Amino acid sequence: MQSITFRKPVDLHVHFRDGAMLETVVAHTARQFARAIVMPNLVPPVTTAAAAEAYRGRVLAAVPEGVAFTPMMTCYLTDDTDPADLIGGHASGIFAAAKLYPAHATTNSAHGVTSIEGLDPVLAAMAEAGMPLLVHGELVHDDIDIFDREARFIDGVLAPLLDRHPALKVVMEHITTRDGAQFVASRGGRVAATITPQHLLYDRNVLFVGGIRPHYYCLPILKRREHQEALRAAATGGSAQYFLGTDTAPHMQHLKEAACGCAGVFSAPVAIEAYLKVFEEENALDAFEAFAALNGPAFYGFEPSQVRVTYEKRAWTAPQTIAVGEDAVVPLFAGETVDWALKGA
Ligand code: DOR
Ligand code: ZN
Repeated sequence: MQSITFRKPVDLHVHFRDGAMLETVVAHTARQFARAIVMPNLVPPVTTAAAAEAYRGRVLAAVPEGVAFTPMMTCYLTDDTDPADLIGGHASGIFAAAKLYPAHATTNSAHGVTSIEGLDPVLAAMAEAGMPLLVHGELVHDDIDIFDREARFIDGVLAPLLDRHPALKVVMEHITTRDGAQFVASRGGRVAATITPQHLLYDRNVLFVGGIRPHYYCLPILKRREHQEALRAAATGGSAQYFLGTDTAPHMQHLKEAACGCAGVFSAPVAIEAYLKVFEEENALDAFEAFAALNGPAFYGFEPSQVRVTYEKRAWTAPQTIAVGEDAVVPLFAGETVDWALKGA
């Protein structure tokens, strides 16, 4: 196939940050996506409807002139989340969803939830309001191997949570294992998952080829090949329970290339191109539109984009770095040939 046309996709999981980084990265997502679900793990985190409304304003101010792009905001749940503010923010259209970060699981999660059972009144109110819960699905403990965190979260936290809240809609964000894909499938349509490009493209070996490669380090960490294959089957298999969520997570180059580097892959500049590579390799380009543009909107309950975009087979080279003020970020595929390109761009 030399070109493919589909509705403009939606990225159901992005990190835009704030300040100079926000100004730089929003344009890369807005170029390819009609909407995005914006993560709330700023410093300090976005924990109230007022903070989310202000952040939405800063995101919209960073969208280039003439580009139509809708940011959809999320609330960072804490032990002190006020259910009235949360549900009110959802009812007034500020919050599309709320995000559960177990405390210390990942970047800026220090304010995360320490007692998930303690959140039950909030989760009950969300279920009643039809507001989706987005989970960072890792159980983090000194005694739990980093490669087992997702499976342990499913058994220890997520399965009981779903049993306690039978009507709550839950997205398991960035699943990385066969266990994650199978669990989502086993729980029916009120449970869904996003899948990132890096977890479809690579297994954990890429972190160590020829030396340590910090730009492939993200959380949850890349897993074994058998898990990558299970994710490819899930994404391309036609089930409406899986949808596109890049988890594009920019960090300044010097903070990635460091003795203790930050977690996150900055995929926004090549996001659709990266997914198309996977779907083409799996002979599943006909399943791409559902994954990228239909399943997410159907789960959240908003209309898919009416705009159609065409990508063509045309080689180009991804930039080595993208400037952010005096600093830079390194994108996915840096310096590599990319096979697909947005027509007219
Ligand atoms: O790799 C990651 N980066 N995983 C996350 O969960 C958070 C994200 C970030 O914000 O940098
Ligand atoms: Zn994320």
